[in-house]
Amino acid sequence: MATEARFAAWAARTEATLDQALPSPDQAPGRLHAAMRHAVLGGGKRMRPLLVYAAGAVSGVQEAMLDAPAAAVELIHAYSLVHDDLPAMDDDDLRRGRPTVHVAFDEATAILAGDALQTRAFEVLAQAPADADIRLAWVQALAGASGVAGMCGGQALDIDATGRQQSLEELARMHAWKTGALIRAAVRLGALAGRAAPDVVERLDGFASSLGLAFQIRDDILDVEGSSEQLGKTAGKDAAQSKSTYPALLGMDGAKARLNELDASMREALSPFGEAADALRALGELAVRRDH
Ligand code: IPE
Ligand code: IPE
Ligand code: MG
Ligand code: MG
Ligand code: MG
Repeated sequence: MATEARFAAWAARTEATLDQALPSPDQAPGRLHAAMRHAVLGGGKRMRPLLVYAAGAVSGVQEAMLDAPAAAVELIHAYSLVHDDLPAMDDDDLRRGRPTVHVAFDEATAILAGDALQTRAFEVLAQAPADADIRLAWVQALAGASGVAGMCGGQALDIDATGRQQSLEELARMHAWKTGALIRAAVRLGALAGRAAPDVVERLDGFASSLGLAFQIRDDILDVEGSSEQLGKTAGKDAAQSKSTYPALLGMDGAKARLNELDASMREALSPFGEAADALRALGELAVRRDH
């Protein structure tokens, strides 16, 4: 099947699993449930779920076994965006072309929606149709990637670095944690589902580390070069808020040169896998070349 068609099919599976995993707004507390659905459904590139399916495809895992981890990583991602947009953090009012959750609802509801999305992610993994040892490994990988040495820790470094110049090492660590960790977890979840051999997992993890950094560098570049309509979120926010980014530290040419290096290291990491890694290869290219 052509890559585009595979991605469309995987995105549709993700949409269906997420819809099922989220409580109905007709049930109490309806406002909280509606806010959770607003945050998760009907938007987003679904990059992390696609990475779960693509990593699973390397070891030929049944797609049905990947539905739960694909949805779980997207639930964590959606929660991270709801909290990232809060007034206490980036204070954004546009996300995925729509008002952010605290604007469409209110701040308390946005905080609680993020909290509930996070716990739902782990419930989805715990209840998945997979062997208990795989479910446990999934929970550990996703929890680690979401916590202090992952997304949350990276967001803390981002807040701490706002308005101050960071070294390149600090910036790389911040990006690796706030964005890279969840992207690495997505690839690991797919690999764990297929009981991939440790050397395969390690190689895929190297690919995912490069992809994670590339993804956030591209995000920083698009914040400068893109428009709000194109991005579905407010462009130009990083400079306005004196955020620490690759273009701010290395200049636009330096940021793009780093992106090209990461592109090459992604290709190298996947070279032993042949056709089985075609979908992962395409996602690596998307991370580098995406325009929204
Ligand atoms: C935005 O992530 C936040 C970052 C980590 C850069 P995405 O660019 O994946 O956002 P959606 O899910 O497509 O909205
Ligand atoms: C967000 O980074 C990373 C997260 C963990 C959510 P950004 O703050 O750059 O993401 P956008 O640009 O708001 O999507
Ligand atoms: Mg942010
Ligand atoms: Mg932000
Ligand atoms: Mg950004």
